[in-house]
Amino acid sequence: MHVLITGGAGYLGSVLTRHLLDSHHEVRVLDNLLHGPQDHLSELSSLETFQFIEGDIRDQDLVRKAVIGIDAVVHLAGIVGDPACAREPELAQEVNLDASIKLHKTAVASGVKRFLFASTCSNYGRMTDLEGYVNEQSELRPVSLYARSKVEFEQHLLAECEHGLPPAGLPILLRFATLFGTSPRMRFDLTVNEFTRDLVRDRRLVVYGEQFWRPYVHVFDASRAILMALEAPAEDVGGEVFNVGDTAENYKKGQLVAMICDAVGGHLEIERVKKDEDPRDYRVSFERIKNSLGFAITKTVPDGIQEVMSSLPVSAELAS
Ligand SMILES: NC(=O)c1ccc[n+]([C@@H]2O[C@H](COP(=O)([O-])OP(=O)(O)OC[C@H]3O[C@@H](n4cnc5c(N)ncnc54)[C@H](O)[C@@H]3O)[C@@H](O)[C@H]2O)c1
Repeated sequence: MHVLITGGAGYLGSVLTRHLLDSHHEVRVLDNLLHGPQDHLSELSSLETFQFIEGDIRDQDLVRKAVIGIDAVVHLAGIVGDPACAREPELAQEVNLDASIKLHKTAVASGVKRFLFASTCSNYGRMTDLEGYVNEQSELRPVSLYARSKVEFEQHLLAECEHGLPPAGLPILLRFATLFGTSPRMRFDLTVNEFTRDLVRDRRLVVYGEQFWRPYVHVFDASRAILMALEAPAEDVGGEVFNVGDTAENYKKGQLVAMICDAVGGHLEIERVKKDEDPRDYRVSFERIKNSLGFAITKTVPDGIQEVMSSLPVSAELAS
């Protein structure tokens, strides 16, 4: 397949790009390098199967050119996370919703057969049944601009499905758990990565609201799920929503901290700040993607903690 990855220079995108190239697909990345130059892209530039377009998905002319000859679009570009969207609400609305709608329209018009959207389990917000699990049918209760923009674009895509397109033309919606693990464009604002780095570097951590649930998935497994959805028969995935993760990989923040402390070892200082209300508290079922597509993770959170630890410079360098 000839795949366009928007946001392909990002944390997930750079892992996915390498993965698709290794799986003998051709990759074109459209990314405006919001987080600065990415050295790893130059390593790929000599490959005939890789093409990088530096630019903005809000640029309609560029998007029209970027989709020419493309079989599948994986739409990752966005203003990612609650803090980033809260800092620049107008930009978040423009990129995550307005430009995304136009991108999808342009892709369909140019005959792109698959459009895969990276959504998020943050869409579930706060679960109502604190003993249960939310699944793809559960009510979406977004509590941030970030999640609202994701929900609104999901709704747009699902409404498009009502227009009677053949399965091959229907979008695929993947709601990812919170990612962790190493990537050429590393993110240390993701809980597992951040807590691991901070405990190795500072040997102390302040944890807010350790009783709240979240699901986690390794960035490489997220990439595997995308590849699986791209290669699956259209009738199994077109117009469908899948949570991406593993039901056993839901953890309370306190459990996560305990696992990281075990891995780091030695004397560590944990300050627990009590928080009775968190608008986001969700434990997610990932049975659908397992049963429909046979998806299984290959790396658990403890594996990711070890991986992040080994990628860090020794503690003395981190402290300087
Ligand atoms: N990281 C997670 O835990 C997580 C969880 C669920 C869903 N997701 C979704 O996965 C996708 C990728 O997330 P990530 O963690 O790799 O984030 P990221 O910020 O590392 O990647 C986003 C990429 O989009 C690019 N970008 C931003 N605005 C753009 C624009 N206007 N035009 C072109 N490119 C633009 C950025 O330069 C960046 O490379 C996002 O859509 C995110 O919402 C991520």
